[in-house]
Amino acid sequence: MTHAASPIRVCDAQDLRNGGPGVKLPATDSAGHSTVFFIRYQDRVYGYLNRCAHVGVELDWENSFFTRAGDRIMCARHGATYLPDTGVCDGGPCRNGRLTPLKVQERDGTVYWLPEGKIQPAASQG
Ligand code: FES
Repeated sequence: MTHAASPIRVCDAQDLRNGGPGVKLPATDSAGHSTVFFIRYQDRVYGYLNRCAHVGVELDWENSFFTRAGDRIMCARHGATYLPDTGVCDGGPCRNGRLTPLKVQERDGTVYWLPEGKIQPAASQG
C-alpha cells in the first residue's frame, strides 16, 4: 500500500450550496496555524487554504466567501476577488496572485479533504 493521507471528513454534501457559506477547518502549514475552507460553485466542491494572496489574512467574514452574485470568492478585507474554480485572482489588490488549492472529494453524500504536502489538518475531527 502507498502511504496516502487518510481523507478528512469536511461536512455533508448538502451543507455546501452553490455560492453559499463555506465550511472551515483548522489547518497548519509552513507559515503556522491557519484554516482551510470548502465551498460549492457550479455544483462542484472546491477547497483552498484560507489565506489571501494580498497580505495573508483569512478571506472570509463569518464563513461568507462569495460575492453577492455568487460568482467570485471575495476577500472581506480589501475586496480582492478570485475565480472559485481555480483560485486565480481576477481583481483587487492581489492581482496575479492565487489561492492555494486543496484536493477534495465528494462521495456518498459527504465532502472529504485529502490533505497533501505541507497543508495538514490541525486537529482531529470528531
Ligand atoms: S487581505 Fe485580502 S484583499 Fe487585502
